[in-house]
Amino acid sequence: MKRILITGGAGFIGSHVVRLFVKKYADYQIINLDKLTYAGNLLNLTDIELYPNYKFIKGDITDADFISEIFQLEKPDAVIHLAAESHVDRSISNPMEFVMTNVIGTVNLLNAAKTLWKGNYGQNRFYHVSTDEVYGALGDEGMFTENTSYDPHSPYSASKASSDHFVRAYHDTYGLDVVISNCSNNYGSHHFPEKLIPLAINNIKNNKPVPVYGKGENIRDWLWVEDHARAIDAIFHGAASGDTYNIGGHNEWKNIDLIQLLCKIMDRKLGRESGESAQLITYVTDRAGHDLRYAIDSKKLQENLGWVPSLQFEEGLEKTVDWYLDNENWLQDVTSGNYQTYYKQQYEYNEQ
Ligand code: NAD
Ligand code: DAU
Repeated sequence: MKRILITGGAGFIGSHVVRLFVKKYADYQIINLDKLTYAGNLLNLTDIELYPNYKFIKGDITDADFISEIFQLEKPDAVIHLAAESHVDRSISNPMEFVMTNVIGTVNLLNAAKTLWKGNYGQNRFYHVSTDEVYGALGDEGMFTENTSYDPHSPYSASKASSDHFVRAYHDTYGLDVVISNCSNNYGSHHFPEKLIPLAINNIKNNKPVPVYGKGENIRDWLWVEDHARAIDAIFHGAASGDTYNIGGHNEWKNIDLIQLLCKIMDRKLGRESGESAQLITYVTDRAGHDLRYAIDSKKLQENLGWVPSLQFEEGLEKTVDWYLDNENWLQDVTSGNYQTYYKQQYEYNEQ
């Protein structure tokens, strides 16, 4: 039985990757290692927690001794590394947290893998899940390809870029079998409501202002989270050692257009007058260093590994709204306690 250590498996994307692997590969033992920060939630995995090929370990990737012990105990054959601090706004107020988890945490995992797999580097794979934000920002034209130079602007993207460099360095220096993917913005179920789409759904539902940074003209390329998980599956099994793949949905939306569409869907689902939810849109102070546009060219992934996105955005957004409206308890659970403090610090000074 192949033993796969998935880090950050209780988070948004990680939980979808864990679910896909546990259900699809009965012959893989999936070990989910997660610290359960504010963003990690075992409620994300209740449907698979009793599967015999699934196991959860609570732990912190910044603790080198603990990570080394876990590798010796669990002897994973491969790692899929998603654990990270993932929110750009939090990286602006607390960059060191991002250096610790995203950089030091990744190097701790690389060191443990290098020690455990010594002499067998060809048999064991370290898959690092990264972001398109390492490439910086685009103007009106062009797309990020796998050859685009790194140009990160936020503490979050700088920490992810640094971790990508370490992963490649362990391939080039020690011969570790590594793979990296850089994905665009994900959306779907179990997305923590600090990120634009789930935050807007929650606020519209509760008749609270929907904060749009700056003029709402920034553009993101949105991908259904389950399509990201399918891409990770394809890359984990199909990529050559040392290779990089970009993942994206060819689905660019200006923030304000996305929010307008979401308001229309919410009006319909909540039985509101047309235009009612859009009245909640509130323009607030722009994010510092706000990247204008991201767009991913995922031709390599489509041509080499036959991956294509499965959902149109409008359909995915409807499904996402349905999930949040059907999962009131989940939303209440994650927005209680510390969320309120975060929300006040991040937004309240902007509200009238
Ligand atoms: P998330 O914030 O929802 O989840 C992160 C998970 O990592 C949580 O379960 C958290 O508990 C865990 N974690 C954090 N610090 C840890 C630590 N020190 N030790 C162990 N576990 C820890 O993030 P996400 O949106 O699911 O992103 C997952 C990965 O995908 C990240 O590496 C992120 O950079 C990358 N990514 C995200 C997106 C996106 O749109 N969300 C797009 C591209 C790439
Ligand atoms: O591109 C991939 C990245 O996408 C991932 O690496 C990150 O982990 C993930 O958080 C996401 O980063 P963004 O900063 O693009 O996502 P966020 O949802 O925070 O913001 C999306 C856009 O919406 C961005 O232009 C900022 C804007 N925004 C965001 C929030 C939270 C608002 O206008 N208002 C808000 O309240």
